[in-house]
Amino acid sequence: MKVRKAVIPAAGLGTRFLPATKAMPKEMLPIINKPTIQFIVEEAIQSGIEDILIVTGRSKRPIEDHFDANDELEAVLEAKGKQELLNTIKDLNSINLFFKRQSYPKGLGHAVLQAKNFIGDEPFVVMLGDDLMMDTVPLTKQLINNYNETHASTLAVMPVPRQDTSKYGVIDPEREYKKGVYNVRRFVEKPAPEVAPSNLAIIGRYLLTPEIFDLLETQPAGAGNEIQLTDAIDRLNKIQRVFALEFNGHRYDVGNKMGYMETIIEYGLSLPELREDLIDFIKATVKERL
Ligand code: UTP
Repeated sequence: MKVRKAVIPAAGLGTRFLPATKAMPKEMLPIINKPTIQFIVEEAIQSGIEDILIVTGRSKRPIEDHFDANDELEAVLEAKGKQELLNTIKDLNSINLFFKRQSYPKGLGHAVLQAKNFIGDEPFVVMLGDDLMMDTVPLTKQLINNYNETHASTLAVMPVPRQDTSKYGVIDPEREYKKGVYNVRRFVEKPAPEVAPSNLAIIGRYLLTPEIFDLLETQPAGAGNEIQLTDAIDRLNKIQRVFALEFNGHRYDVGNKMGYMETIIEYGLSLPELREDLIDFIKATVKERL
């Protein structure tokens, strides 16, 4: 079955970015001129996804508004002949987006469960709203390719420093099924470095079969007293194969302050109109301060 639908959980409290995230979801934090979530929506579309459900919390308005038409702004840009800018905002409201509230932030597993009726009986992808991935083939497309070949759930993983395993879900790889794709013995949420089965961490892209929903419905709270997606995936792996695919591109974790800074600098360097000035600024600042 073709993978057509994506779920973007964006209902977390974003406490690491308070007070910026008091009235605005952290997924709207701008990377210079583009909100984080727009990069994710673009990755979904480039991967062939047709319908996207965004799971939101109390402060969902800015996300809905961002992907809606804005007559007033469009008229002003039109009148001023700013066609290029007009296209950048008009393109946004042609996307098939749906919204569902997660009334209580009970964890990522609980956020994904909100998509049960939207997904129905199809395979789908989960794309975390604060994790940006850059590669020649979009990571979501890489997961879909593996699904098309195996018809199995596939999660993206990446090596992380040992001391960081307690921030992630971590896999216990069993054997390499093919280059860069592993069969997995266990999926463990936030293991301490001493007991982590590997340093291969689950990053923010998952391709899941719909059987995950029955498991999420009965999933008790785990690490941090939250309903953990990783725990339900570990159970799914006991009834059907779940693969881990190693990502070789660049990952930007916008959800923490340092990751956010890195993302902005990298993106700035990729923009021709900023690149040279930014390099000069960084060089001069480093020389002056260090
Ligand atoms: P995080 O743990 O990084 O997000 O969840 P958070 O809880 O908002 O962040 P901090 O730690 O308080 O700063 C990863 C993703 O899952 C979503 C978040 O919005 C984020 O995109 N999420 C998390 C939900 O949608 N619902 C939840 O209950 C928890």
